[in-house]
Amino acid sequence: MTEDFYHRTAEYVAVLLRQAWRALGPALADALSDLDTSGGPVVDIGAGTGLGTAVLAAALPDADIIAIEPNPALRTALLARCVEDDDLARRVTVLGTDAHSAPLPDRLSAVIAMNVLGHFDPGERRALWEILDGRLIPGGRALLNLQPPTTAVTVPTTPMARVRIGGLEYFGAAAAEPAGPDTITWRMTYRVERQGDVVTELTASDLWHVITASALADEVAEYGLRLAVTDPEHELYAITRV
Ligand SMILES: C[S@@+](CC[C@H](N)C(=O)[O-])C[C@H]1O[C@@H](n2cnc3c(N)ncnc32)[C@H](O)[C@@H]1O
Repeated sequence: MTEDFYHRTAEYVAVLLRQAWRALGPALADALSDLDTSGGPVVDIGAGTGLGTAVLAAALPDADIIAIEPNPALRTALLARCVEDDDLARRVTVLGTDAHSAPLPDRLSAVIAMNVLGHFDPGERRALWEILDGRLIPGGRALLNLQPPTTAVTVPTTPMARVRIGGLEYFGAAAAEPAGPDTITWRMTYRVERQGDVVTELTASDLWHVITASALADEVAEYGLRLAVTDPEHELYAITRV
């Protein structure tokens, strides 16, 4: 479902996520500011077009970065971002696999998973905690955001972002319905408009796994990991070794 979702929506995701990163970027940079990256690379799981990858590179100028992005359209934008910038081209390795089959080194300084966790079912989440448990160096950390809702509730249609590029405006709105006890179905509406007239409209749905911060804290604790909120305004959480 997710693969098909991003195949259909990649150009909108590429344009519209930028607005969210205007606030998320500084919050993530702050949460990384004291990190020692000498012990291993930093991983960006589900890097998309590389908005977070670029934040990592700027915040951690000595770090090697592994950016994992399974979707070919988003990965193309990520690679284009990297090849245009000598520093990114030198330090960012782009892997076109999913998080769970990516060949990762034994020691990682940090892992980020921004706007991603809901794509993972409980088994995939646990596979991620196993990666952190096995590879995160002492003093290392994972950072992720928990986007609302964190329980399976209805979300009325909500405008997400509007971005002008040249003579066209790109617009996205999101709504959600419960799909199960711990899942919702996001129903996204994307439009390209010219002076208020609709040029193209696309609707696309995707399954999203929800979890509250306290349930997540209990889940990661089973792997000897601790969850702590680092920036409540941006729903940013850090996971460290106990
Ligand atoms: C909403 S986008 C966020 C992209 C980027 N992290 C950002 O915030 O700009 C979610 C991303 O997760 C990726 N993704 C979904 N399932 C994944 C998986 N199993 N392993 C790695 N990435 C995955 C998608 O391809 C997509 O790029």
